Amino acid sequence: MSVKKLTLLALSLLLSVETSVTATHHRGIVQDQATFNHGVDSTSTRIEDLSQLSENLFSELKHPSFPRHSVRIKKTRFCDETVKAYTGYIDIEARHLFFYFFESRSNPEADDIIYWTNGGPGCSPAAGLFMELGPCRILDAAGPKFHPESWNSKANLLAVEQPVGVGFSYADYGEHVDSSEEAAKDLAAFLAIFFEHFKQFRGRGLHMAGESYAGIYIPLFAAEVYDQNTKLIKEGMSPINLTSIMIGNGLSDAATMFPSYYDMQCTFVSGMKPIQDISTCVRMKQAVPRCKKWIRESCVEQLDRMNCQAALGFCATALESPIEKTGLNPYDLTRKCGESDQIPCYPLTSHISRYLSIPSVREQLGVDPSTPTNFSLVDWDMNTRLGNNMDHVRSTTPYIAALLERRVRVLIYVGEQDFSCNWIGNEQWTLDMEWSGGNEFRKQDLETWNVDGKKAGKVRSAMGLSFVTVEGAGHMVPYDKPKQSLELCNRWIYERNI
Ligand SMILES: *[C@@H]1O[C@H](CO)[C@@H](O)[C@H](O)[C@H]1NC(C)=O
Ligand SMILES: *[C@@H]1O[C@H](CO)[C@@H](O)[C@H](O)[C@H]1NC(C)=O
Repeated sequence: MSVKKLTLLALSLLLSVETSVTATHHRGIVQDQATFNHGVDSTSTRIEDLSQLSENLFSELKHPSFPRHSVRIKKTRFCDETVKAYTGYIDIEARHLFFYFFESRSNPEADDIIYWTNGGPGCSPAAGLFMELGPCRILDAAGPKFHPESWNSKANLLAVEQPVGVGFSYADYGEHVDSSEEAAKDLAAFLAIFFEHFKQFRGRGLHMAGESYAGIYIPLFAAEVYDQNTKLIKEGMSPINLTSIMIGNGLSDAATMFPSYYDMQCTFVSGMKPIQDISTCVRMKQAVPRCKKWIRESCVEQLDRMNCQAALGFCATALESPIEKTGLNPYDLTRKCGESDQIPCYPLTSHISRYLSIPSVREQLGVDPSTPTNFSLVDWDMNTRLGNNMDHVRSTTPYIAALLERRVRVLIYVGEQDFSCNWIGNEQWTLDMEWSGGNEFRKQDLETWNVDGKKAGKVRSAMGLSFVTVEGAGHMVPYDKPKQSLELCNRWIYERNI
């Protein structure tokens, strides 16, 4: 098995990728300003109301507290004509991050804001928007269709293609970020500039949400936003009202996720019958304590690169790779893994990348011409780079605990059929986590939650932390269960109760 494949397996992220790593596109030197689809209207730097923006020209936003950052933004009719929608770039010197902003379908003037990111690392939030929870979904060759259960039903929805290199984001001279910490700084600065310019959203509740590798991103991003408030206040700006984080099928603690691979493959606890034969299960069971101990010692308590790599290799081979031989979709054990050139096992995701490669669609979005002509939902270079930097082996639970202590609520929701970032592993770390509400949380039972009188999954809540499972859903909960996922999202945001 090649090192690359091992790393990716160890990430418990995107399996069977060797063949889908396509040509990397050289992002050349930024082109002449005149060749941009959309020029910049630099006279309008004082725009404070989003609706004043143009559809054809970007307006540029700056703030003296963030001299290295600026934002280009324009209106668009893309995806949802029932609301105001905006796209643009956050420019951080030579790095340029693309974003989408869809206003709420209910009351944009009062509704909270959801920031959404996909995982990967290297996965574009276009996957989340157009396959799962955005205002339109692109699930077949017919193109975008209005999505009634979109998460902008009762909230303003913001998605950023990050880290740089993902999706329509680009760098002038091949710059990239090497860690989630660096990505967090860019995102926090963007949010500060955004709220500072658009007064109508200032002080509004912000919920930072994401899936999969966002179990690493979101706790770090939210911590950065929270800590940044000290600086904002000192410089006379309004603090960002970070209200909650929401993580779906997250990878937040590799040391508890690996052992859960045994349970998912060899017991009934997954809700399904064992999928491996007895001899494989016995071998796996024997590897569990060794894997746990080795990761804890070499990756978590103290990062020793060589030893940590070896530990990950051992755990992946012993506990994760047996799933490959089954041909099952590791993101949904009730399905077969389909051949895909985009998100592994989901062939339909090629419709999204094809649509976002159409020149007129890019024109409408204001996509920079220096981005590759074929849109790709996964930046494999980024995936490899962060993997090689051991970005994935840390535990983000200390960040989650620290956010809880500061009254930032935390929702951990998990589709029950997912293997890769499954509910067993996620439940385990929520129970193990040390924080002042821990005892209260551990005392609670897992109870049923319902939608329209029908069981939707299980829930355990206390002191601002909720752990929720979603029945009949895999890794991408809003794709599999759009109605239940929207209900969960709205109850969490507005009723604070599942
Ligand atoms: C922050 O947002 C929450 C949720 O919308 C809201 O209840 C609260 O009043 C807001 N806080 C401030 C200081 O505006
Ligand atoms: C872009 O996609 C088209 C059709 O899917 C393919 O024929 C072409 O080779 C691709 N171009 C690049 C640069 O990958």
